[in-house]
Amino acid sequence: MAKKKIKRIAVLTGGGDCPGLNAVIRAVAKTAIAKYQMKVWGVADGYEGLIEDHIEPLSYDDVSGILTVGGTILGSSNKANPFSYLVSPGTRPRDLSDQCLENLRKREIEALICIGGDGTMVSAAAFAKKGLVVMGVPKTIDNDIYGTDMTFGFHTAVNTATEALDKLHTTASSHHRVMIMEVMGRYAGWIALHAGVASGSDVILIPEIPYELDCVAAYVKKRSQKGRRYSIIVAAESAAPRGGKMVVHKEVADSPDPIRLGGIAEVLADELSEATGISCRGVNLGHVQRGGSPTPFDRVLATQLGHHALELLVRGVNNHLVVWKDGRLGSTPLSRIAGKIKTVPKNSELVRAAKAVGTSFGV
Ligand code: F6P
Repeated sequence: MAKKKIKRIAVLTGGGDCPGLNAVIRAVAKTAIAKYQMKVWGVADGYEGLIEDHIEPLSYDDVSGILTVGGTILGSSNKANPFSYLVSPGTRPRDLSDQCLENLRKREIEALICIGGDGTMVSAAAFAKKGLVVMGVPKTIDNDIYGTDMTFGFHTAVNTATEALDKLHTTASSHHRVMIMEVMGRYAGWIALHAGVASGSDVILIPEIPYELDCVAAYVKKRSQKGRRYSIIVAAESAAPRGGKMVVHKEVADSPDPIRLGGIAEVLADELSEATGISCRGVNLGHVQRGGSPTPFDRVLATQLGHHALELLVRGVNNHLVVWKDGRLGSTPLSRIAGKIKTVPKNSELVRAAKAVGTSFGV
């Protein structure tokens, strides 16, 4: 018997936002509406909207003119886990996944496209196990989603971080200082590594290569003795000294991933100025990295991933994540990637190139 054609789909954006989300929504919805005459719904605020039944039709016009716009027209949440949802503080988390399925069923929505990071994919995989047709699209500035070489949003974040590092060079030079800039990335050092190399930073600190404070101090002092009276250090928010801990900014109790990292730049600035006697300043670039218009690269990648997700659904593929692997579009089962993250290989070609041009990793 021929497979029933999917005619009604919904799309949601989950987790922390990033530039390029709108480009995916646009690619999915335009392909679905114009090429396949499907009806499309947008779920507000990630899984939160699925739980709370905030699901509205999306028209072709709704997704026109959003390609270049940062953020997400649907809204996002990095708190709502439908399988363990905190309805109110002090109560026990509840499994509201059946309520979510009912909210889709009453609109006769047959498939859900989940644009998100690893947390979003864990829930997507769990919905697939309950029989929902799902397709994942990998987003995050962190570039840490397992199974894909690249996530959209990363390129834009690296651009933003590189511009900031370039600016820090001039003020560091004027004041003969060490400037330490902290970038996001959660438990992976991709943004720090790429922005560090792109800006010619002197020291790159990433969680995959635990640093030694003495080595960083010696490197900075040596530069100073050679007449290079300033240094630029880029530190991933999860960078930590060998045998030491990451700096935690706060814990968000009702989030599936409650730890929020942050503060390494300030901590290092104090420790390094004490160790070297050189004036040091810490800067945390923060959420600026998640904002703004996506770069052309991210617009293209997001459009391709969104389009591919829809085409795969039409071909009957289910429970997969669309990926960019070895220079090609593809897909991989959600069960293979959910719950895993992709970190920087310690001996990657880029790490080796950075070392070869004299960049220190603090070891
Ligand atoms: O995953 C994206 C990200 O920006 C991480 O790089 C960062 O650790 C985290 O989200 C910050 O989360 P929030 O927006 O809750 O502060």
